[in-house]
Amino acid sequence: MQMAAREAKQGHGKLAEELRELIDAAKERQVTPGGGAIPIARPRGELAGLLTASYPTRKLTDMVLAQPVEESLQRVLKEQRHLSKLRSHGLHPRRKLLLVGPSGTGKTMTASALAGELGIPLFVVRLDALITKFMGETAAKLRQVFDAASSTRGVYFFDEFDAIGSHRGTANDVGEIRRILNSFLLMIEQDESNSLIVAATNHPGILDDALFRRFDDVIEYHVPNPKEIQALLRMRLAPYLKSSKSIRELAAAADGLSHAEIARAMNDAIKETVMHDLDEVSPDMLGALLLSRQNVRQRSAAAPVK
Ligand SMILES: Nc1ncnc2c1ncn2[C@@H]1O[C@H](COP(=O)(O)OP(=O)(O)OP(=O)(O)O)[C@@H](O)[C@H]1O
Ligand SMILES: [Mg+2]
Repeated sequence: MQMAAREAKQGHGKLAEELRELIDAAKERQVTPGGGAIPIARPRGELAGLLTASYPTRKLTDMVLAQPVEESLQRVLKEQRHLSKLRSHGLHPRRKLLLVGPSGTGKTMTASALAGELGIPLFVVRLDALITKFMGETAAKLRQVFDAASSTRGVYFFDEFDAIGSHRGTANDVGEIRRILNSFLLMIEQDESNSLIVAATNHPGILDDALFRRFDDVIEYHVPNPKEIQALLRMRLAPYLKSSKSIRELAAAADGLSHAEIARAMNDAIKETVMHDLDEVSPDMLGALLLSRQNVRQRSAAAPVK
């Protein structure tokens, strides 16, 4: 409320009003210790156009993660769970994360699982939309997002983060992108909130060194290795496929595919099984579905880059 009053004094009436709204929203959703349904913290006013809020129930155990990724994420969760203890000793819990890796390997899912594990809301910021929709006032909009991060604890997920990082220094750079990036760098650096700031990108190569330095941890995602593929198949197919021999054979057919591609093939196979009132997924059918995913992947890899 003091911040709101200060902003109001400086003539930032709109921001002051939004801060007050956020405080009201936070008061509204105070959770009773006995549990019960947790109402969603809904961004109001202008913030509603910048952030999509949800309350994920997903957990890290719903994911198949490479060991180093799992360890990094568990460490973040542990530090978050000891937040006030760490803060009272003047220590900073890890909370600014950059997730890097190919499409369909679980970056978005991770943002949602972190929120689920910590029981806090997930706020998704679509940067590409933010930049195109608010060209000219993006920096001010970003400020609002970071202000929200200070007043409402949550996971603030900057998806398609390369939209901001990639443009710096490129030919079509007209100063605006540079301004956005510089203010983003400043905001992420100054952010002392209790929220998690999570950014994801498919293209680490085009991101700036200056950006990498701002994060407490850079977590790298990869397509699953054979052991991880087997774990993924087992996790989803356990009720529909008994033989571990088929799991091993199917894992070979899925080699090189992303988690998302394998998940889609498994879902298609399970749908067929359910629609035909069968008890088990046919390994042959799933094998064929995986193979067709492999073909799609090869075709798109061979397609000329525009
Ligand atoms: N590590 C994983 N473990 C289990 N399932 C996964 C994993 N990664 C992805 N999936 C499945 O694939 C879907 C898509 O994954 P997700 O959206 O997290 O990928 P992404 O890395 O964010 O991709 P993109 O870069 O295209 O945004 C998930 O909803 C889930 O079903
Ligand atoms: Mg994603």
